[in-house]
Amino acid sequence: MFIINFKNYEEISGSNTIKLSRAASKIAKKHKIKIAVCPPQHLLSEVAKLPVTVFAQHLDTSKTGSTTGYVIPELVKKSKILGTLLNHSEHRIPSSEIEELVSRLKTLGMISIVCVKDVNEAEKYSKLNPDYIAIEPPELIGTGRAVSKERPEIITNSVNAVKKAKNSTQVLCGAGIVSGDDVSRALELGARGILVARGIVKADNWQKSIEEFALAFKKNRKV
Ligand code: G3P
Repeated sequence: MFIINFKNYEEISGSNTIKLSRAASKIAKKHKIKIAVCPPQHLLSEVAKLPVTVFAQHLDTSKTGSTTGYVIPELVKKSKILGTLLNHSEHRIPSSEIEELVSRLKTLGMISIVCVKDVNEAEKYSKLNPDYIAIEPPELIGTGRAVSKERPEIITNSVNAVKKAKNSTQVLCGAGIVSGDDVSRALELGARGILVARGIVKADNWQKSIEEFALAFKKNRKV
């Protein structure tokens, strides 16, 4: 799994979100790689009209009905949003909400990606059996210094910690990934995929940078 988190970067404002999503969709199809995009909340359903996997950057625990201003799983599912990031370093939530959302998403058949800041959290939240645990050391996010090179042990230790849960949860990693080589290193360390923001959103040529990442996946992917 290769996930592009658009965050709220100026570069993806307005129709640029559609342009970047189209580039991801094209490369995914060309190289038969699973690429998902996380656009800003207000553009989720717009992007979901494209042939691309769309995840939310965050979803709330509010119930359906009179819950003004919250964005919830049951409703975004109806707009073809297939899953969500949870507990991203820039949008942390209480463990009680993570537990509730992972179970609701499972019931809805939606993909849950629980972001964690260290190995302890990876071990703790893998017991909830989300589809993915995404390890992202906060100090490397947005730096261009790749987790797979700066802190390789945090990936291997997270993979081992998640294995202890003896369930289907897979490990993704993110933070500072900016090149195909960073991606290859992450996959060699046992991650089943990556999360990236700056390395692609702020690239001069979106198609070229997404393709560089996709080719690294193809080369290193364990079938
Ligand atoms: O969710 C992905 C993100 O936090 C990684 O950020 O900009 O270092 O790729 P970045």
